[in-house]
Amino acid sequence: MSGMEVPDSAVRIVGGARLHGSVRVTGAKNSVLKLMAAALLAQGRTVLHEVPDILDVSIMAELLRRLGCVVNYDASMATVAIDVPARPEHRADYDLVRRMRASICVLGPLVSRCGEADVALPGGDNIGSRGLDMHVAGLQRMGATVTSEHGYLIALAPDGLRGSNIWLDFPSVGATETLLMAAVRARGTTVIDNAAREPEIVDICRMLVAMGAVIDGVGTSTIEVQGVDVLNPTEHTTVSDRIVAGTWAVGAALTQGDVTVTNADAEHLEIALDKLVTAGAHVDIGSDGFRVTMDRRPTAVDIVTLPYPGFPTDLQPQFIALNAIAEGSALVTENLFEARFRFVHELARLGADVQTEGHHALVRGTALLSGAPVEATDIRAGAGLVLAGLVAGGTTTVHEFHHVDRGYAGFVTDLQRLGAQVMRIPADG
Ligand code: EPU
Repeated sequence: MSGMEVPDSAVRIVGGARLHGSVRVTGAKNSVLKLMAAALLAQGRTVLHEVPDILDVSIMAELLRRLGCVVNYDASMATVAIDVPARPEHRADYDLVRRMRASICVLGPLVSRCGEADVALPGGDNIGSRGLDMHVAGLQRMGATVTSEHGYLIALAPDGLRGSNIWLDFPSVGATETLLMAAVRARGTTVIDNAAREPEIVDICRMLVAMGAVIDGVGTSTIEVQGVDVLNPTEHTTVSDRIVAGTWAVGAALTQGDVTVTNADAEHLEIALDKLVTAGAHVDIGSDGFRVTMDRRPTAVDIVTLPYPGFPTDLQPQFIALNAIAEGSALVTENLFEARFRFVHELARLGADVQTEGHHALVRGTALLSGAPVEATDIRAGAGLVLAGLVAGGTTTVHEFHHVDRGYAGFVTDLQRLGAQVMRIPADG
């Protein structure tokens, strides 16, 4: 995490290798960004472990610095120390927020801590509209005044937030996190109904409880928070990245390889691993992770993405890649992000046969893909294209690889270690 510049590289893959060996997963991107934001809730030094060395972490570190924090990241220890001042600033600027939609996660802590938050409206991945209506409605129920002016969302609660009953229309990960972080220091009790249950939500709840928050129903659809006056800084280890772990699992199955994934929690991937077994893989679960082996062409598997514990949307492109070379046809249904099928046009450049209709994709397996230049359109699309490149004949070049670098620390090095022929090349190479 040396700098903030986007390393605009491409990655070249020569297909044909079987992934073989062991790979260790670090903390989850989609947890650690929120944990860093949660540090704002307490004055003093919060220390996070298992922090992945990815661009999004640098962006969040920079955002916290602009809010007045001192942030030190030690890549060799995968640890970040965040010193939060008595009075943080309350404005998150557009130049950072537009580069990472997850910046919106400072909204809850800032309005709670400062009584005011000005957060630029986010950009982020090209995967759909991704509204904020549930974040806003929840904060309003807690007494905040929320307006949008000049591209900024402005939330005001000068006399503090008050506990309230909130029903989410949909178990949104981001809205659940915003409202949790707002509720922990509100006056009285907040009940969030139809809350998200992702392992990353459980992780942030664990951290908040260690900071002194009072939370019931962690990991269920009804979370009850008793507000407290003050939270204390803490030290916390980030939950491991189930999506990175799942990407390796698919990589093993797709390449007919043998990969042991360590520092992973198979329980967080129950459905995905079960799908791989249906596709013909062997999955052995151990205390520190799991091993996936495959000795034949996969059988196509149907997928329906849903909030946790359903099948994760963040593994959908990787499973489309698997289905693209599988025996038979599969129906993939995407229920979270409408634009997440955009990448199938890139996959088609490799010879994949995928037909989309609304939020369904019909994937007809072909025995052989053929290498071609393709472009990553978001993190997971990029990961899916890399996996497809591993089994395509000849050379595949994945352009716009910076999308993948946002979410996968050391991906290329790990692929090389597992025997893939992969290298970074200049973007115009
Ligand atoms: N939504 C609304 N209104 C809201 C909030 C959400 O309409 O107020 C909609 C979104 O537009 C979207 C759906 O609800 O269609 C799901 O949104 P959710 O809030 O659950 O997702 P998120 O918090 O925006 C996080 C991850 C995503 C992951 C989803 C679902 C982070 C930074 N992002 O997004 O990760 O796909 O949960 O699990 O945590 C990725 O890592 O590649 C990625 C996109």
